[in-house]
Amino acid sequence: MCGIVGYVGDRPALDVVVDGLARLEYRGYDSAGVAVLAGGTIDSAKRAGKLANLRAALEERPLAEGTVGIGHTRWATHGAPTDVNAHPHLDCTGSVAVIHNGIIENFATLRRDLEERGHELLSETDTEAVAHLLEEEMPEAGGLAEAMRRVCRKLEGAFTLLAVDTADPGAVVAARRNSPLVVGRGDGENFLASDVAAFIAHTRDAVELGQDQVVELRRDSFTVTDFFGHPAAYNEYHVDWDASAAEKGGYDYFMLKEIAEQPQAVADTLLGRAGLDGTLALDEMRLSDEDLRDIDKIVIVACGTASHAGMIAKYAIEHWSRLPCEMELASEFRYRDPILDRQTLVIAISQSGETMDTLMAVRHAKEQGARLLSICNVNGSSIPRECDAVLYTHAGPEVAVASTKAFLTQLVAVYLVALYLAQVRGIKYTDEITAVISQLAAMPEKVEKVLDIVEPVREVARSLASEKCVLFLGRHVGFPVALEGALKLKELAYMHAEGFAAGELKHGPIALIEDGVPVVVVVPSPRGRSVLHNKIVSNIQEIRARGARTIVIAEEGDEAVVQYADTLIRIPDVPTLLQPLVSTVPLQVFACELATAKGHDVDQPRNLAKSVTVE
Ligand code: F6R
Repeated sequence: MCGIVGYVGDRPALDVVVDGLARLEYRGYDSAGVAVLAGGTIDSAKRAGKLANLRAALEERPLAEGTVGIGHTRWATHGAPTDVNAHPHLDCTGSVAVIHNGIIENFATLRRDLEERGHELLSETDTEAVAHLLEEEMPEAGGLAEAMRRVCRKLEGAFTLLAVDTADPGAVVAARRNSPLVVGRGDGENFLASDVAAFIAHTRDAVELGQDQVVELRRDSFTVTDFFGHPAAYNEYHVDWDASAAEKGGYDYFMLKEIAEQPQAVADTLLGRAGLDGTLALDEMRLSDEDLRDIDKIVIVACGTASHAGMIAKYAIEHWSRLPCEMELASEFRYRDPILDRQTLVIAISQSGETMDTLMAVRHAKEQGARLLSICNVNGSSIPRECDAVLYTHAGPEVAVASTKAFLTQLVAVYLVALYLAQVRGIKYTDEITAVISQLAAMPEKVEKVLDIVEPVREVARSLASEKCVLFLGRHVGFPVALEGALKLKELAYMHAEGFAAGELKHGPIALIEDGVPVVVVVPSPRGRSVLHNKIVSNIQEIRARGARTIVIAEEGDEAVVQYADTLIRIPDVPTLLQPLVSTVPLQVFACELATAKGHDVDQPRNLAKSVTVE
């Protein structure tokens, strides 16, 4: 939520900052703003709406030229997305400008006190209070960094803050608590951002800041302290992808590019996991085999699409490792007093590694003494840093708000974890594990094949653009796939869409079926557990008898479904548990095409943001 950029160097700061914001716009696009230090003053501009509105305003009135600047794209929390509420916010004297990601929970008290002391606050935001608090602290603190530390000690909640001060025109000062912030180290220039994507075109050398730290960024240096001014430790790393990975590469939308990248992402996530003797080697996981043998229960915590990966993980983990496994929505987890102990392994699945609900679930589990493993796509993000172990997915940067390639790589990661648990617990022989690994190794090609034959999905999607509602049915691992198909359609096409376990239909949802209602059915392989297949074929007949228009996703060679399908979408034959890797892809394409047919921007759906850093 909210994209933040800061720059100190010798290039025009405005260009660097606006370019960085363009790469971060997926984090929030309600409004955008920039501030540049120039000639002893702050020149700023901000506009409600997408970055394009700010760009237009800057063309009309270019800012003064300066080489130090900050910029922000907003996902509104306090106050509507208006010009006034857009960041940056200034203090009473106009000498300090602040941008902010997160929520300052005690802002109402801080604001009331500031107003009582005579400050005039112009916006409805929590952020503006920080600018005025800095103004108050500055005379005694003797500098922006110390003032920032003093202010942070008064703040409750989650925040990344960036500030500039006319009295120190060579610096940007930033602080973080429970919200992402990275430093980019250049040659004679340095960067700050909520995500490396903002500066990847300039440098791949990054510094990951710790919790409750303040950084003072200058052209040739950066200084990191805690909130009390003590020097603080940080972690330097090299980003292993380049700027082209974060660009559209000829596609109309990032989402289309990311769907197309799935075969490679799956292959990259599998790379180097199998040892020479056929055993799985997840060395980077940092949980010893001893620790894993000790585990007697697994709880998965995740949100949205990642929670659907978690539901599929439950099937794989219980089937392969024989450990009981539950999947919990991270936003509910800590409020119901879950039973956790040292023998519980909590697995947090998160693409961004910054989702606040999941982070809070991780912290709760840690307090209860559980062991913690994260499956994450963003190196050095908060969730893996707070877990005992991490398995990184190698999807590369996912920019479109709707998750696609990250989901498929999360599936690969959970399959690997399930097999690894089976291996260390001695539940499966090496040759059995090797057999599944080779099935997984064949998946990139199978996903590629789905992409090659997906045209009928596009056609049917376009034909449904004026429908009000689409239902999705599945059984076994096809049930979470149905939920995922419905979620994609809701978020991109703004349509009513529901996913159901096909067996639940007759317990209520079948009442929704009437003439012409489109129902997408994910059919399990007839070669696997035939009972599953037979049951869903009956379900298709039941809805068809009541007038449903059936869009059936079924394996090549499955002839039993042909007569009941108004539209038949073929997927390659794969083992039952692995089917989500291929059956999800047509549903992604379906939602993307239908939303595009309705004229929506699929990369930036309304009301959403990529990384949800508020609870
Ligand atoms: C939907 C989507 C979201 C995310 C959810 C969790 O397409 O992308 O539902 O899956 O917000 O995000 P992460 O995985 O970053 O924790």
